[in-house]
Amino acid sequence: MKIIASNFKTNHTRSSTKEYCIHLEEFLNHFKTPHKITLFPPSSAFLENNFKHFKIGAQNAYFTKNGSFSGEIGQEQLDEFKIQTLLIGHSERREILKEDQAMCAKKFAYFSALDYEIFYCIGEPLNIKEKGKEAILDYLLTQLNGINLDYSKLIIAYEPIWAIGTGISATLEEIELIHTNLKQKLGKIPLLYGGSVNANNIHDIIYLNNVDGALIGSASWQVENFCQILKNS
Ligand code: 13P
Repeated sequence: MKIIASNFKTNHTRSSTKEYCIHLEEFLNHFKTPHKITLFPPSSAFLENNFKHFKIGAQNAYFTKNGSFSGEIGQEQLDEFKIQTLLIGHSERREILKEDQAMCAKKFAYFSALDYEIFYCIGEPLNIKEKGKEAILDYLLTQLNGINLDYSKLIIAYEPIWAIGTGISATLEEIELIHTNLKQKLGKIPLLYGGSVNANNIHDIIYLNNVDGALIGSASWQVENFCQILKNS
């Protein structure tokens, strides 16, 4: 069993998400997969989380039940859709929205106390990658500061920033090397890879040593492509 997730990012409307989910549910009624599937649509497109073959998660939430945090959503807005799965620390939030490690750790503390399943993202930028393995690992470990690695519903996604949305995935050797080193620290925590995963490379990537699945962006935004990814997995 692998974990395969689609991050819609800022794509899809409520109606296109609904179509996507209906298509996927129908596909998975016939195509049996051993893998655990999660979709992360934008919050404006949340749907009631009661599909048989996959879960709906949130790409972000603030560490509050409700309150005065304009532009954010909290626990109450997730509860309305029975959402119990949350992405924290995606590089786009860290880099573009300037979310720092303290903020990621606060979100993690709040939602782990509520028993959420947490997909927690880490990943290095190109200038760190160029410094080599030790620099990469040091950088990635700083992104785990304040995160309780004993939390049983934690899943970590390693998404090198230079591989996201570029069409240039890390090589199989690079993925296996970093995952194997990370696993020494992470133990049994599932470790996904993300960054230009698609229908052609999914199989090779998810069956590498120490890879427990994939977090996929652009190649999964059309439901037919995501179904093909699942067929090839
Ligand atoms: P791409 O698959 O588009 O590279 O995005 C990966 C990602 O950021 C998933 O969270």
